[in-house]
Amino acid sequence: MDIGFKSIEIGGKIVENRLFLAPMAGLGHVALRQLILEFGGPGLLFTGMCSAKAVPSENPEVSHVYKFRKQELKHLVCQIFGSDPKDMVKAAKRIEQEGFFGVDLNFGCSVAAICKKGCGAALLKTPDIAVKIVEQVKKAVSIPVFVKFRIGWEPDIAMVKATAKKFENAGADLLVFHPRIAPDRRTRPPKWEYIAIVKKAVSVPVFGNGNILSKADMEQMVKKTLCDGVSIGRLAIAKPWIFSLWTNQLKNYDNIYHHTAIRMTDLLLQHYGEFIGVKFFKKWAPYFSANFKFSHAINKKLLYNNSMDEIRKCIEKIFQNTPEIAKKPNQNIFL
Ligand SMILES: Cc1cc2nc3c(=O)[nH]c(=O)nc-3n(C[C@H](O)[C@H](O)[C@H](O)COP(=O)(O)O)c2cc1C
Repeated sequence: MDIGFKSIEIGGKIVENRLFLAPMAGLGHVALRQLILEFGGPGLLFTGMCSAKAVPSENPEVSHVYKFRKQELKHLVCQIFGSDPKDMVKAAKRIEQEGFFGVDLNFGCSVAAICKKGCGAALLKTPDIAVKIVEQVKKAVSIPVFVKFRIGWEPDIAMVKATAKKFENAGADLLVFHPRIAPDRRTRPPKWEYIAIVKKAVSVPVFGNGNILSKADMEQMVKKTLCDGVSIGRLAIAKPWIFSLWTNQLKNYDNIYHHTAIRMTDLLLQHYGEFIGVKFFKKWAPYFSANFKFSHAINKKLLYNNSMDEIRKCIEKIFQNTPEIAKKPNQNIFL
């Protein structure tokens, strides 16, 4: 199945293809999403995780995480994290009112600060609360409800199957599954065979996620696991045109690296201004630099600058002679 050319129905809504941008806090912001949409091609885009407690009172004009463009809402799913079903319901209602495509429930984040509050992957220790969240959010809104989760805290196949089934029965319209246990860092390979297990366990669509770093990886994941689609994280940060390329929409590939870097500075300035824009550029720089053979040297040069003007001059200098492209992004700085 060529997932770049096959539509899918999610909670009664049709999505053009089965390539999603994964939620990534600090990277999947409005500027990056605008750049991706300028190239074209993603089925859906996901925001980085937003606090369910904060969402009801967020000002999208001001908030760095909850900032969006009206034009992107039809493609955009807002991800929320929280531990109290009431907070999650309130946030989901705001997300529906705002006009997002859907709401995504984060049961996968393993960052200590999030788990300590009983949110993210911590909820997989007590799936009953997570299931209650899915049930109550589903009852409260009519937009599609997504669940992003991981294996849990132990590689327990029976538990993963049971949890996936519970999410389905609670009303999840689509599951995005990241097959790592919570204590695993991204340096450990994800266990794709668990995606196949989840896919077999439920009848709602299951999207696979984890270490798709090339088209061949994406094809392998689909072939091996029979997942219904894929959610792409770091590769889409490094190459925001990947959705366009994989859906045969990319027209002009010349100078794409140079264009991407300069356009990113424009969009960051436009959406966030100088101070935050520079900060976000520096967060993005390692992923962009990972595209090149001498990625560490390029990253170091980009990070050395303190203003967007300096960053732009630095980009022009780097691209006086286009640096050699690596076959796959350099995983050492691609964490
Ligand atoms: C910097 C960074 C921030 C992330 N933030 C989130 C997040 O907010 N919510 C979430 O569900 N996953 C988050 N993730 C995990 C990704 O969505 C994805 O599961 C992970 O990167 C593996 O996919 P990949 O190999 O395609 O990058 C984050 C990953 C990275 C690298």
